[in-house]
Amino acid sequence: MFEEIVGTSPPLQSVLSRISKVAATDSNVLITGETGTGKELVARAIHKRSRRSSRAFVSVNCAAIPRDLIASELFGHEKGAFTGATQRRLGRFELAEGGTIFLDEVGELPAETQIALLRVLQEHEFERVGGTGSIRTNVRVIAATNRDLEAAITAGMFRSDLFYRLNVFPIEMPALRERREDIPLLVEYFIDRYARKAGKSFQTVNKRSLDLLQSYPWPGNIRELQNVIERSVIVCETENFSVDESWLSRQPRATEPNRELGLFKRLPSQEKAIIEAALSECGGRVYGPSGAAAKLGIPRPRGTAAKWLSKRHRTYASATSQHSGHSPCVTPKHAAGYVCSVCRFEWSYANMWRSRTRRHRTSSRW
Ligand SMILES: Nc1ncnc2c1ncn2[C@@H]1O[C@H](COP(=O)(O)OP(=O)(O)OP(=O)(O)O)[C@@H](O)[C@H]1O
Ligand SMILES: [Mg+2]
Repeated sequence: MFEEIVGTSPPLQSVLSRISKVAATDSNVLITGETGTGKELVARAIHKRSRRSSRAFVSVNCAAIPRDLIASELFGHEKGAFTGATQRRLGRFELAEGGTIFLDEVGELPAETQIALLRVLQEHEFERVGGTGSIRTNVRVIAATNRDLEAAITAGMFRSDLFYRLNVFPIEMPALRERREDIPLLVEYFIDRYARKAGKSFQTVNKRSLDLLQSYPWPGNIRELQNVIERSVIVCETENFSVDESWLSRQPRATEPNRELGLFKRLPSQEKAIIEAALSECGGRVYGPSGAAAKLGIPRPRGTAAKWLSKRHRTYASATSQHSGHSPCVTPKHAAGYVCSVCRFEWSYANMWRSRTRRHRTSSRW
């Protein structure tokens, strides 16, 4: 197996051959492909096969970091650079010195960070937030995205000069439905992995289940297949491994339009269950293409879902700070299900995501 990358199909062979060619160089790599196709796995394989392999591989999900914090996260900050910067903090570029930095979902970087990243790629230097001196850096940059960056350039959301700097060596990950011949191998690999963890053993794979797994379109690609196998290993009590058919037929497409309208027309208790299920399926991830927002098909009124959600979170956070009369009654972490002791308003994830904060404020007594 090539660095834990399972598969022998021609589209995957071509990816593996590109990994072998580029690994030894110091060139920037841009990995594109749908969610769950293995972009991070490929980035790690490039690092492991490079002469930087003994140094750090630092992975940054650009969509998961709030926009106002991303520069400090990447480049670090000096003591006193902003409120709360009580001491100097090293950024991810400094932590990756001599190694590789993986910028996942690079298409989500705000404009000012794109400029700073361009400077790193061109001049190999950056400044910490609040710092005055430039810091030299020797870090290989591998970026990934499942956005169409060329369309983002046309829309004025992504700098073309940065795109060309990153796209020195493009690698495009095929969707799982474009390499169905790899599915039996992947199924076997994941059954083995999860059965060992669960202390179970399976002698055979149910033929009907395998046919189903091979014909399903896998919108969530290998991550989705992996999750289905993990779940099936847990519930399967016989030596003949099988998959519950309803799990596949009910899977929503990530980009199904107008799901939010359906979602938000439901009762708050149903909304909560649906949103919590989506969050749990996405490992608690809200933002980005594999986050709960995308899974639920939350529309993008301006820019990306991540932007939209972070705006909701800000509205929510400012409502929380309105509780200054008494101690803040909710925090984003444990808001769902909370009943405010002042106004008896019940918070749910849906309440957080919609603009109910205003109603909350007007209905409360402070
Ligand atoms: N060819 C493969 N063989 C074995 N496991 C794989 C393969 N491709 C992906 N995986 C597994 O699938 C999961 C998703 O892969 P990864 O995180 O690399 O996808 P991604 O393209 O970065 O997804 P996203 O766009 O959502 O960030 C991981 O657990 C990874 O180990
Ligand atoms: Mg990824």
